[in-house]
Amino acid sequence: MATKLVILCLLLSVLDVTATGPKVSYAKKMDPKTLKMDRHFLVHFHLYWHDTVSGAKPSSVAVLPPRNKATVFGELNFFDNPLTIGPEPSSRRVGRSQGMYAGTAHDQIGLMMGMTFAFTTGKYNGSSFTVFGRNAIAEHEREMPVVGGTGKFRFARGYALAKTHHLNPSTFDAVVEYDIYVLHY
Ligand SMILES: *[C@@H]1O[C@H](CO)[C@@H](O)[C@H](O)[C@H]1NC(C)=O
Repeated sequence: MATKLVILCLLLSVLDVTATGPKVSYAKKMDPKTLKMDRHFLVHFHLYWHDTVSGAKPSSVAVLPPRNKATVFGELNFFDNPLTIGPEPSSRRVGRSQGMYAGTAHDQIGLMMGMTFAFTTGKYNGSSFTVFGRNAIAEHEREMPVVGGTGKFRFARGYALAKTHHLNPSTFDAVVEYDIYVLHY
């Protein structure tokens, strides 16, 4: 009788495993210190972003035309724009900003921007953070969130302030000044 009970118990435990699967852990709590997250840094970046849409080698290209020419609603641009420390195109390059902007406002020129700021020199070489947000370009100062990053900017957050430094009224080439405040670990 006792033997039968043991066999039954064994059988049930085997059935239980096959019914729900063996316990496999795919997530576990960690101590933030393991990833050196017990201290953080706030960094201010001051950069110039060069959006060149004219000429033989534009850095920024419209891939969809606007539905409304006045507000550029519906336009989609892809860009790979240089980032420099000064406003002149010949100024020292420290990285690239790659991404896209799209006309997403009906009553003004309002862009939805999604872009990475990837550095190619100095202590942030190889690291990048991502800016994603709304850019109503007629406003003097626009704010967009920093939503994350890679390398030194893992877990980053912050905000970017964009001001048009120069806009060529005939070609629409633009130089935009970016002040970006990034909190990272
Ligand atoms: C940046 O990092 C890349 C890849 O590791 C390396 O090839 C390059 O020399 C670095 N550039 C500078 C200026 O440190």
